[in-house]
Amino acid sequence: MLEVKHVSRIFKSGDFKVAAVNDVTFKVPDGQFVSIVGRSGSGKTTLLSLLGALDKPNEGSITIDNEDIARLNDHNLIKYRCQKIGFVFQSYNLVPNLTAIENVTLPMEFAGLPANVRKARAKELLTQVGLQLHEMERKPGRLSGGQQQRVAIARALANKPKLILADEPTGNLDSETGKVIFDLLHDLAKTEHTTIIVVTHDVEIAGKTDRQFRLKDGKLEGKE
Ligand SMILES: Nc1ncnc2c1ncn2[C@@H]1O[C@H](COP(=O)(O)OP(=O)(O)OP(=O)(O)O)[C@@H](O)[C@H]1O
Ligand SMILES: [Mg+2]
Repeated sequence: MLEVKHVSRIFKSGDFKVAAVNDVTFKVPDGQFVSIVGRSGSGKTTLLSLLGALDKPNEGSITIDNEDIARLNDHNLIKYRCQKIGFVFQSYNLVPNLTAIENVTLPMEFAGLPANVRKARAKELLTQVGLQLHEMERKPGRLSGGQQQRVAIARALANKPKLILADEPTGNLDSETGKVIFDLLHDLAKTEHTTIIVVTHDVEIAGKTDRQFRLKDGKLEGKE
């Protein structure tokens, strides 16, 4: 269970304050597939970063299985991010000098999996997201935006996280490929009981998730 209680994230520069996330409260049970929609600047990425413990709230608490992630020490924070969270960034954040396969094996290396297991799983995941074998050996600079996005999705799934946070995971994909990715995430939520939270502008995708959240100026509007 993910529980978010009265969470705010305020950015200050000089006298100017932006409440990017403003007193947000919600609960998500394990295995639920949630979409977050909202206009540009409404706080979607900021909220995902807080859930992924990449940033800390000014106020409120975020608990996963009764553990408050804002209170983890650095060591446990790294462990939490590595083992429990799969994060798909809006800008992919792939390592430029590693091939697609190496990008996907990297988190498994941090988790201590043996090399042959890492490579086999990376290939399997990249195949699932629709990459060809010869594309897997390329570095991100030689892949299209949509291909890089799919590598980022495969990387997020590498350590079988409990919680997947994805910022516009289908934003650069044609509708057919987007549907394949959506189905993959949907299957994970149902079979592995993985909680999935996706930010999307795609109304069709948002309409098919278990729940839809709408952010407006940092506030949560529709919760169901
Ligand atoms: N590091 C920061 N410093 C100051 N302001 C920030 C920072 N990050 C985000 N903001 C502001 O917080 C608000 C929410 O930004 P956020 O990136 O969460 O929006 P978003 O909903 O993800 O938008 P988009 O759909 O364009 O990706 C915006 O007004 C933005 O300018
Ligand atoms: Mg964003």
